[in-house]
Amino acid sequence: MATHTSDSLAHGRYQSPRQNAGDPLVQQYLRSHQRSLEAHRTASGHFAAHGATHAVRVADPFRPYITHAAGSRKWDLDGNEYIDYAVGHGALLLGHGHPAVVDAVQEQASRGVHFGENHELELRWAALIAGMMPIAERIEFCAAGQEANLLAMRLARIHTGRRRVLRFARNYHGWADGLVALGAPGSVTAEITEVPFNDRAAIERELATESYALLLTEGGGAHMSGQVPIDLQLQRDLPELAGKHGTLYCVDEVVTGFRDAPGGWQELVGIKPDLASIGKCAGGGLPMGALVGRAELFEPLSPASPAERLVIHAGTWNANPLAAAAGVAACSLYRSGEPQQQAHHAARLFRAKGNEMLKRLGVSARLHGRSIVHLYLGPVEREQYDADFAGPSTNVDWLEGVAYAAVARRLRLHLLQRGIAALRGGLYVFSAAHTAEDVDTTVSALEQSLVAMTEEGTLPTELQ
Ligand SMILES: Cc1ncc(COP(=O)(O)O)c(C=O)c1O
Repeated sequence: MATHTSDSLAHGRYQSPRQNAGDPLVQQYLRSHQRSLEAHRTASGHFAAHGATHAVRVADPFRPYITHAAGSRKWDLDGNEYIDYAVGHGALLLGHGHPAVVDAVQEQASRGVHFGENHELELRWAALIAGMMPIAERIEFCAAGQEANLLAMRLARIHTGRRRVLRFARNYHGWADGLVALGAPGSVTAEITEVPFNDRAAIERELATESYALLLTEGGGAHMSGQVPIDLQLQRDLPELAGKHGTLYCVDEVVTGFRDAPGGWQELVGIKPDLASIGKCAGGGLPMGALVGRAELFEPLSPASPAERLVIHAGTWNANPLAAAAGVAACSLYRSGEPQQQAHHAARLFRAKGNEMLKRLGVSARLHGRSIVHLYLGPVEREQYDADFAGPSTNVDWLEGVAYAAVARRLRLHLLQRGIAALRGGLYVFSAAHTAEDVDTTVSALEQSLVAMTEEGTLPTELQ
């Protein structure tokens, strides 16, 4: 069944900002963000998306303009300090300004940012990645995570001689044609089929048509690694289900790659996909993407390939020395698993203390997730669940509804005003730099925000 929700969790929150100048919270925000307001006015003359340069940065009235960041914190033009839970859209597992990364980038900047030639850093980077992710017999660097997914589709089509790609709804893989939600205006997604998330029967039915080149799914669950709780057994079965029908399986580890474990999601759940796309953390905070996988699948990239199979992969920023320097520095640290454990530890503390607070307040909401913690704000259907992978409900439709989006937007603004910068009200991305003190401050800000929302009447009564 084709639905049109591949990245609709993002879309649910991407709504026209409302100018609500009479709102006391908005007035307070405008007073404490005067210089950001000026910048926002200028930005609106340049950037069509309400002055923002990324869909999730679109906000009512606007998001702060940041001047600098360090560790788990960042500061804006008006001098406001935030605990940062965006951490570079998930890319900064080590936190802001880790000395090993800063030193590596500074040194490389002085040696040259682009040679337009081969260089040794790309070799070291590849070796580190292959050392952590055993399926990486071959690595192809590109400029962003979504490019790796596009390459996976092309290589799979050549290898199988088929054209179709199967995906789960609610998984996010990028905004380009073939990756964006089915039916997105202006896009061409004719060869793509989506099945409902966690729907084993639908996956089996589609794969049995033996017409798919590639099955592409998001590691860790749907949308930023698990906003929608996952059927873990199905995830473990996907490589076999795909292989049985001649379909290649690519796990999108752009978020989970090296964040969930040194070997990523595939190590965490014990699977061996044919291909995996990585990005974000693998670049230590500089832009990159890469596709890794079985050597034979990458043969079309060899100039010795027959013309009808040859893939010409160019890209100005592929393995550029600055990204490679940051990537080598960061990946060298990921190998031990220590930064991942530190991020998980802080996240678990937040989950535990936050859930205690939510129960005490009597708010119908619970926290779940590994190093990316999701706030599920909705009917709590069960108290017992494996919080690493599951949530208090399987009612994923609620997470896409208008009511949830409105609550999450309001919470986001309350949190920002209290010094907590989550990109969405319900998404907290942890890094190794987040501390127990950060957790306490965040839980307290979350409590104050929910109390304020109850008082102002923006928390629906069914959640109280
Ligand atoms: C799971 C997943 N895949 C792919 C992408 C696209 O990566 P990029 O923005 O680097 O192209 C993202 C970005 O957020 C993502 O979360």
